[in-house]
Amino acid sequence: MSDEDSILALEGISRSFGGVRAVDGVSLSIKRGSIAGLIGPNGSGKSTLFNIISGVEKKNSGSIAFQGVRLDNLSPHKRFALGLGRTFQTPRLFTGMTVLENTMTGGKGQKGESPFNAPFPGRWEPQEMEIAKQAKSQMTSLEIEKLFGSHSNEISGGQMKLLQLSTVLMGRPKLLLLDEPTAGVAPRLAQDIFQSISQERVENATTFFIIEHRLQVLFRHVDTVFVMHQGRIIASGKPDEIVKKQNVIDAYLGS
Ligand SMILES: Nc1ncnc2c1ncn2[C@@H]1O[C@H](COP(=O)(O)OP(=O)(O)OP(=O)(O)O)[C@@H](O)[C@H]1O
Ligand SMILES: [Mg+2]
Repeated sequence: MSDEDSILALEGISRSFGGVRAVDGVSLSIKRGSIAGLIGPNGSGKSTLFNIISGVEKKNSGSIAFQGVRLDNLSPHKRFALGLGRTFQTPRLFTGMTVLENTMTGGKGQKGESPFNAPFPGRWEPQEMEIAKQAKSQMTSLEIEKLFGSHSNEISGGQMKLLQLSTVLMGRPKLLLLDEPTAGVAPRLAQDIFQSISQERVENATTFFIIEHRLQVLFRHVDTVFVMHQGRIIASGKPDEIVKKQNVIDAYLGS
């Protein structure tokens, strides 16, 4: 893959916790505009790898290039500003806020956040209206618009997953890392979530890198799958190629 085609390139990423090599020399490249999957047994290092890419966790070694820019020491906030979004395995939401308010926090560069503008509604009200409109349309495409007035702690686990997705999509990320977007979600909703992801890719050219244990749903939507085992990438390729590889069957699929 040429540098032009790749949105994310990892070289030799490693991270240990005490004696555990959670991530052990991972190199991979994600193609711009693709949907890529990351699968592997529990504890194989998938979430740690996402934490390193998004800047939540430090790496011991290796390099990360996002759209050709080295991210190595940038804060998660700066990475988000560059277009790198992520969701967490356990949704992180503002519990004192409604579904609509949570979604609106994902809008970028909000003028009302500045202490110089906050006391003067004229400076931020038009933008706030625009963001509310955008939030409603985002919630509608994920089918959570009817929940707009509910507090985020009153909704189901699956709805929290959708709310997290809705919020991060408001920032129009170029690359979105999703950590188990369908865990705890009803099967029909899991299909819908992946449908929305595919639609988002087409409409906004968003690239996705997705950790998922529900392989049937994942395989229907991804271009490439990476398989992780004991901190290493042991295989990558199209879903129909991956399922035939003996080392993947031994490490994960056969269990
Ligand atoms: N903050 C931490 N401190 C100590 N050990 C950690 C920490 N985070 C992860 N680990 C360890 O690193 C290894 C990889 O964990 P990680 O959460 O990345 O796996 P995973 O592939 O996401 O698993 P799962 O599918 O269960 O979510 C595990 O052995 C885990 O116990
Ligand atoms: Mg995990």
